[in-house]
Amino acid sequence: MNFLFSSIGKKIQVAISGILLLIFLVFHLFNNLVLFAGHDSFNQMVGFLESIKPLIRIMEAGLLMIILIHTVNAIKLTYSNRTLQNGKYKKDNSEASSLNSRTMAISGTVILIFIFIHLGYIWLTYQTHNFYEGETYYDVLLRNEIGYLNHTPTAIFYIISIFLIGFHLRHGYHSSLKTLGFLESKAFPLYLIGFVFWGLIPAAFIAIVLSIQIGFIN
Ligand code: HEM
Repeated sequence: MNFLFSSIGKKIQVAISGILLLIFLVFHLFNNLVLFAGHDSFNQMVGFLESIKPLIRIMEAGLLMIILIHTVNAIKLTYSNRTLQNGKYKKDNSEASSLNSRTMAISGTVILIFIFIHLGYIWLTYQTHNFYEGETYYDVLLRNEIGYLNHTPTAIFYIISIFLIGFHLRHGYHSSLKTLGFLESKAFPLYLIGFVFWGLIPAAFIAIVLSIQIGFIN
C-alpha cells in the first residue's frame, strides 16, 4: 500500500489513469464521428446509449474516479518536484524538467476547465433533456448559443482546448512509456503509435468542430 503513495507509485497511477483516459477519448471520438453520418444515425446512437443508462452511469462513475486519481497524483508530483528543485539537491536537468512539469500543469488545468464547461453545457442538457420543442440530441450540439458548437467563440475555445489536449497527450504518452518501463527509442513502435493518440485524435475532434462551423455538419 505504501508503494502506491511513493513517488514512483504516484507516477504509475498517473501513467495508468492517463492511458485509461486515452481509451475513453478514443471511444468518445468514435461516438462523435457518427455526426458525419447525419442527424438520424447520431440520434439513434445516443438513443441506444440512453437505453443502457445504468451501465453508462457506472462507466461515468469510473471515469470520474480515473480523472480524480490522475489529477490528484499529478498535482502531488508537480508539488513535490517543485519542492525538490527549490531544495539544495538541484540537478543539472532541473530547468528542463521544471518547464515540462509547468507546461503539463498549465495544459492540464485548461483541460479540466474545458471538461467542466463541456459537461456544464452539453452533457447537462442531454441529462436534463432541456431541449426546445422538436429539438434532438444532434440539434443540441449544433445550437448557435454560448457553450454549443455553432457558436463561433465557443468553437474557438474548443479548438484551443483540444490543441492543448494534444500537447498534453504528447508529453503524457511519452512519459507514461518511460514510467511503465518501455524503452524510449524513437524507432520503438509504441513510440510511433503515440502519434495516433496525440496527433490524429485531437485533429479528428477539431475536424468535427470545424465541420459544424463551416456547415458541413448541419
Ligand atoms: C468535437 C468535440 C466534442 C464533441 C462534439 C463532444 C460531444 C459530447 C457529447 C454529445 C456528450 C454527452 C453525451 C455523452 O455522454 O456521450 C459528451 C460528454 C462528455 N465529453 Fe465530449 N465531446 C467533444 C470533445 C470532448 C473532449 C476533447 C473531451 C475530453 C477532454 C470530452 C469529454 C467528455 C466527457 C468526460 C463527457 C461525459 C462522459 C460521458 O457521459 O460520456 N469531450 N461529449
